This record gives sequence, structure tokens and C-alpha cells, in this order.
Amino acid sequence: MHYPSLVITALAFSSRAVALNFTSTSPADVAAAQAGALTLSPTSHVKGKVFDRFVVIWLENTDYDKAAGDPNLAWLAKKGITLSNYFGVTHPSEPNYVAAIGGDNFGMDNDNFNQIPGNVSSLIDLLEDKGVSWGQYQEDMPYSGFEGMAWVNQKTKANDYVRKHNPAVIYNSNTTPERLAKNKNLTQFYSDLEAKKLPQWMFITPNMTSDGHDTSVTTAGTWTRNFLEPLLDDKRFMKDTLVLVTFDESHTYTLQNRVFSILLGDAVPKKLINTVDSGFYNHYSEISTVEANWDLHTLGRWDVGANIFDFVAQKTGDKNAVWDAATGTNPTHFFNSSFAGLFSSKDVVTTLPPPNAKLVRNGRKVLGSIARTWGDASLQNQTYYQNTVQIPDGMYPPKGW
Ligand SMILES: *[C@@H]1O[C@H](CO)[C@@H](O)[C@H](O)[C@H]1NC(C)=O
Ligand SMILES: *[C@@H]1O[C@H](CO)[C@@H](O)[C@H](O)[C@H]1NC(C)=O
Ligand SMILES: *[C@@H]1O[C@H](CO)[C@@H](O)[C@H](O)[C@H]1NC(C)=O
Ligand SMILES: *[C@@H]1O[C@H](CO)[C@@H](O)[C@H](O)[C@H]1NC(C)=O
Ligand SMILES: *[C@@H]1O[C@H](CO)[C@@H](O)[C@H](O)[C@H]1NC(C)=O
Ligand SMILES: *[C@@H]1O[C@H](CO)[C@@H](O)[C@H](O)[C@H]1NC(C)=O
Repeated sequence: MHYPSLVITALAFSSRAVALNFTSTSPADVAAAQAGALTLSPTSHVKGKVFDRFVVIWLENTDYDKAAGDPNLAWLAKKGITLSNYFGVTHPSEPNYVAAIGGDNFGMDNDNFNQIPGNVSSLIDLLEDKGVSWGQYQEDMPYSGFEGMAWVNQKTKANDYVRKHNPAVIYNSNTTPERLAKNKNLTQFYSDLEAKKLPQWMFITPNMTSDGHDTSVTTAGTWTRNFLEPLLDDKRFMKDTLVLVTFDESHTYTLQNRVFSILLGDAVPKKLINTVDSGFYNHYSEISTVEANWDLHTLGRWDVGANIFDFVAQKTGDKNAVWDAATGTNPTHFFNSSFAGLFSSKDVVTTLPPPNAKLVRNGRKVLGSIARTWGDASLQNQTYYQNTVQIPDGMYPPKGW
């Protein structure tokens, strides 16, 4: 593969005279790039309707019942709301991460070195548009802004960081020097915490051991409790904060892609602690909930119609659609299949699905730059959103809104 913009990117923010290669995983190149990498930790105080900080933690590849049976995850669930009908959108990992910030997975059915064209926006654009600070914390990523495919533990050679679990970097629109600098590792999480410089929106990916990918849900549950337990009482982190712990996908492809998910934090109303919300949600709810909270614009994709976590929707005045996931017998409602698209290995379509610039939900319109970029294209093929089932029938807006 060819990455033509890399040398320019490296020169633009390196104070050194040499060009750093931010995709190389050779230890020498990584050491050189590490020394010159830019890290940024901007903060903001944009008041949300329900929370002022949203923290997402993704674990890996576990069926719902197995995760619910893990003692540490069960311990965490008692401190918050269990989401008993929360779904991944497809298999394998990467398209789920992509979906969680971009409102689509563009037919991705693989974990390749995919690069989504720069004219596709993500939640990052929506947050920046309203001045909401953001950051990603990827455990054991070797330096801020690393764009390589993977990084292994240098002593044991065990997998540590993988690009396929880093949603922002897969979008070319997020690979400007400024944005790469907010793509940090977990060491930087702790320094940002100490410096009271945590952003308002953050996505946390534990390493391949910690997230259960190469281990088990026992390791993932232990890691998550060890990470979160001290933070639950830490005012530098927990101040009108909502935390979502979820999994990218189920392990068994023939089961419905339901994943164990928990909402935690001081933004959860006391009366809802240790309760279950059985509303239908999926990874697109991570975007719609944030949009509703900060009154962001939308992407004009699956984000617009996605259900918003109920206690949030009640305060923002958003209506959610009702769908009984348990009775979903339509095969597409297993959320275990892929569809044709630019990133499909099996069924390639060379064009990108346009967003629908006309969608409005509860007053929230599509971001102006998205409507301008896609122009008329955004209105050309709206059958896409009806035909490509990612949300059960009847949940596609504007029906019901
Ligand atoms: C950077 O490293 C990658 C991976 O090793 C390689 O494919 C690419 O050609 C390198 N680019 C430059 C500009 O050296
Ligand atoms: C984390 O990123 C920082 C900043 O680029 C780097 O100096 C540090 O070595 C990284 N830490 C780990 C554990 O990889
Ligand atoms: C992953 O992170 C854990 C701590 O969270 C650490 O103990 C471990 O060494 C890291 N890497 C690997 C490959 O296990
Ligand atoms: C999805 O699950 C259904 C029902 O178990 C199964 O028939 C189908 O083969 C699965 N699809 C994939 C791609 O695994
Ligand atoms: C978006 O970028 C892709 C890849 O460069 C291009 O094929 C497509 O025409 C662009 N679409 C719009 C609407 O700009
Ligand atoms: C519109 O989208 C559908 C679903 O992705 C696709 O099957 C169809 O070929 C597209 N039509 C045009 C005219 O692009």
C-alpha cells in the first residue's frame, strides 16, 4: 500500500529536519518518531444537557451471557445501568469501531489497513464544531499520532496496540497533525488526569491483552474494574461524567450480535443505579446520545435515527423507536452480516454511500460542511438507507420524527 501524504504530515509537525514515518513499525523508526511526536491535550467546558463528559471503553469479542457472568463486570453493572439489548453492527472488529464514530461501516467486512476518504466526516467533526474537546486513549500505542498497523510488546512480542481498534485514525479526516496529537496512549491518560486536562469526549481502547482479545473476559473484566474503580471516586474524572463500557462484537457469529454494555458514572441518576434498560441500542447510539446531549449537528447517516440511551433521551426530549430484539427473526436482525461497499472484500462498490443532508431529528440538522461537501449527491440514492439494514425496519428517520 502507498501512503502519499505521510512525509508531508511528518515534516509539518516535527521540529526535526528528518522526515518521520508515522506508519512504520520498525523499532528504530518508532523510537525516532516517538521523540518527535506531538501530544495535545486541549480542554473545554461545554455544558451538556445530561452529562459534561462521555467516556467510552471498548472490550473485545464476547457473547452477552459470558460477559454478564464475569464477576468484575457484574460488580460494575451494579453501580450503573445494564443495557440488555445493545448490539454490535456487524463482524469482525474494525467495521464496528468505524461505525461507532462515523455512523456507517461502508461495507467493511475485514480488519485491513482501511483508510476512509477525507471527505467522510466523523463524530470528531461534530464535537469540534461545538468546541467539545476530545481525545482517544489507546493503551500501549507507542507514541501520540502513531498511524502504523500494530505495535507489539518489545520484550514478549505479544500484541499490544492494533490500528483496527482505533476508530479515529481509520478516517483520513482525522489524520491532520492537530488531530493525530489527540490520539494518545494510556500513559497520557494518567498524565492528563493528573494535569486536570482530560477532554470532554474520550474513547479508550485497552491493549490486546487487557481488552480480552488475546485472553478472556476474565482478564478484560479485571482490567476494566481495576481501571474504573479508583476513577469512580476521582473528581478529576468523575464530574457529570457518563461512562459506557461495551464490547465491539459477540464472539459467536451465529448468535444475535448482542453485547453486554453498562452505563456508569455520576451522570447516572441515583434511582437508576443497579437497574436494567432493555431498550434497543447499537454502536450508533454512542453517536446519537452525544449529539442529543450537546445539541451537536449530525452526520446524516445511521447516527440520526439511532436510539438514544433512555435516561438521556427523556431529558433531551428525544423519542426512541421501540423494537423487541428478542423477536427479531429476520436474518438481518442478527447484525452478523456485511453488505456491499467501498471497504467490502467480497462485494466491492466503488462509490461511498452519501449522507442524507435533509435529515432532521429533534431540531438537530446535518453539519453544514457535510451538506456542502456532498451537495446533491446526498439526495441521490436514499434507497441505501432503507435497503442496508443496520437498524430494524421502521427505525429509519424521518418516520416517527
Ligand atoms: C513508512 O513505513 C511503511 C511501513 O513500514 C512503508 O510501507 C512505507 O513505504 C514507509 N513510507 C515512507 C515514506 O518511508
Ligand atoms: C506513550 O506516548 C508518549 C507520547 O508520545 C510516549 O512518549 C510514550 O513512550 C508512550 N508510552 C508507552 C507506554 O508506549
Ligand atoms: C497490556 O496492558 C497491561 C496493563 O494494563 C500490561 O500489564 C501488559 O504488559 C500490556 N501488554 C501486554 C502484551 O500484555
Ligand atoms: C448469522 O446468524 C444466523 C442465525 O444463526 C446464521 O444463520 C448466519 O449464518 C449468520 N451469519 C454469519 C455471516 O455468520
Ligand atoms: C469523496 O472522496 C472519494 C475518494 O477520493 C471520491 O471518489 C468521491 O467522489 C468524493 N465524493 C464527494 C461527494 O466529494
Ligand atoms: C442505490 O443504493 C442501493 C443500495 O446500496 C444499490 O443497490 C443501488 O445500486 C444504488 N443505486 C444507484 C443508482 O446508485
